[in-house]
Amino acid sequence: MPLAETGTLVAAAAAGHRAVAAFNIITLEHAEAVVTGAECAGSPVILQISENAVKYRHGRVRPLARAAAQAAAEAGVPVALHLDHVTSGRLLREAADAGFSSVMYDAAHLPYAENLAATRSAADWAHAHGLWIEAELGEVGGKDGAPPLDAHAPGARTDPEDARAFVDGTGVDALAVAIGSSHAMTSRTASLDHGLLARLAGTLAVPLVLHGSSGLPDGELAAAVTGGIAKVNIGTALNLAMTSAIRDYLAANADAVDSRKYLSLARRAMAGTVTALIVVLRDAGEPAPVG
Ligand code: G3H
Ligand code: ZN
Repeated sequence: MPLAETGTLVAAAAAGHRAVAAFNIITLEHAEAVVTGAECAGSPVILQISENAVKYRHGRVRPLARAAAQAAAEAGVPVALHLDHVTSGRLLREAADAGFSSVMYDAAHLPYAENLAATRSAADWAHAHGLWIEAELGEVGGKDGAPPLDAHAPGARTDPEDARAFVDGTGVDALAVAIGSSHAMTSRTASLDHGLLARLAGTLAVPLVLHGSSGLPDGELAAAVTGGIAKVNIGTALNLAMTSAIRDYLAANADAVDSRKYLSLARRAMAGTVTALIVVLRDAGEPAPVG
């Protein structure tokens, strides 16, 4: 199946009152696991590579992006490739010829006016190069090892009227909203501000994106979908599955040498996590059209 486009997958999800899952990948094993997990669920999926993952790969985006794009193109379900949490103009410009159909430009840490100006310029560039673009207003905490934001701190929630003006002023195609989730949570104990989500969904015409979804229990993920979230970003849950599979294997096999022994278990564990989370999101939304 040819590489899908993020904009198409998100638009179809939003129109059908469903959500598409977007998983952060760091290694080729992550990408293979996401594809396998989505194939088992029989659902489309988005592979995403963050700026931090690019930094981990010595600042080079193309080796992993091209491998992921190829895995996506050979998948039995529609799979798109997205560049996530970009702050660098240089990396943004590399997105156009590395297989990505979309980018999330992240200036959420800046004051409102600066976020708007920087995001408008990124959106103009992205659209001129055929890329769908997501941005963030109100800061989803926990990025780069930061502690989760105080839920009541200024900027820790997205104001609906600010968001309307931000979307109109920037021309972005989707908006990541701060409604109570936080990045890099290793326990599924977060809860969302469902009243705020309802106000955002009623105010904004663009699809809404949830970040930091690993910290949400199944019921909150399902409620996010029924509340109007159309793209659900998940990263830490995969690393939890991967690391725990490797830790268990090495604990039982202290003299292990062949990395394929534990990476295959890690890949299988991640694929199981992907399928389970896609099923939670799918069961919450309206049934997809058959055929
Ligand atoms: O953009 C990526 C995500 O927001 C993933 O967050 O690692 O907390 O699931 P997470
Ligand atoms: Zn995020």
